[in-house]
Amino acid sequence: MKVKNKVVVVTGGGNGIGRELVLALLSRGARVAAVDIHASALEETLALAGRNREGLATHTVDVTDRAAVDALPAAVISRFGAVDGVINNAGVIQPFVRLKDLDYAAIDRVMNVNLFGTLYMTKAFLPHLLARPEAHIANVSSMGGFLPVPGQTIYGAAKAAVKLLTEGLSSELLGTNVKVTIIFPGAIGTNIAVNSGVMDSLQMKPGDPSPKMLPPAKAARIILEGIERDRYRVLVGPDAMFMDAIYRLDPRRAARFIYKQMSGLLPK
Ligand SMILES: NC(=O)c1ccc[n+]([C@@H]2O[C@H](COP(=O)([O-])OP(=O)(O)OC[C@H]3O[C@@H](n4cnc5c(N)ncnc54)[C@H](O)[C@@H]3O)[C@@H](O)[C@H]2O)c1
Repeated sequence: MKVKNKVVVVTGGGNGIGRELVLALLSRGARVAAVDIHASALEETLALAGRNREGLATHTVDVTDRAAVDALPAAVISRFGAVDGVINNAGVIQPFVRLKDLDYAAIDRVMNVNLFGTLYMTKAFLPHLLARPEAHIANVSSMGGFLPVPGQTIYGAAKAAVKLLTEGLSSELLGTNVKVTIIFPGAIGTNIAVNSGVMDSLQMKPGDPSPKMLPPAKAARIILEGIERDRYRVLVGPDAMFMDAIYRLDPRRAARFIYKQMSGLLPK
């Protein structure tokens, strides 16, 4: 779906990839409803939008709050008259610990934000999207949604569920006006560990080498190009592309490779 003159909802629009998606959508002539749990983060996105802020509405909503999410379509439609696209991008990672050491509060949070947030948004907006001439849903999974990343087992399970939710939805919507894209970012240079409140769990010392990360603005550009071309799946960054290829050839080897690369992040 070409985004020019469309109305697109972006969750997690207050930081990182979501913020860059909002700014890039505005630059391409879309009107945008940015959703985030943090009002102050949305204020910053609004400030960064500059002259494009006319086309931007902000909604401080927790995507795990089903009643609040159910009320969103009416709020967006009352501001912009319609809604044509949803990008479910809001997400949190888990503390970098093994499953045996992960408590249920952390498990519930990661499943609720990543999986149920995406599900609530999808179900709330789908009837409105089906009523449009053309529409699009894009859900952000992760490279960790097809490949086990050490210390992110439940995050990976949530993102794998987002993958299948999205692929199933895509099949169900074949022949309709609603196109669906699943997105697998690799390592992107955002503050997700800080924003997810898991920095303390990272076994990294100052000066430790960190993996090469794609800037979030570049990730947003790749995602929007995928949406504009109605791609089925979008791999964001060379690491995601490489690991996708390796995983298809030999899943166990791919899992061991990434474990070796990243197991230093786990407590001994
Ligand atoms: N950064 C990476 O390396 C990476 C890699 C793969 C996938 N992803 C995925 O990309 C998406 C964006 O991640 P990011 O790196 O930009 O993270 P980020 O922390 O920079 O931004 C995420 C935004 O989501 C918001 N958010 C969190 N919980 C929310 C909730 N319950 N309701 C509404 N908003 C909420 C946060 O406030 C934040 O503004 C996430 O789904 C993440 O899992 C990121």
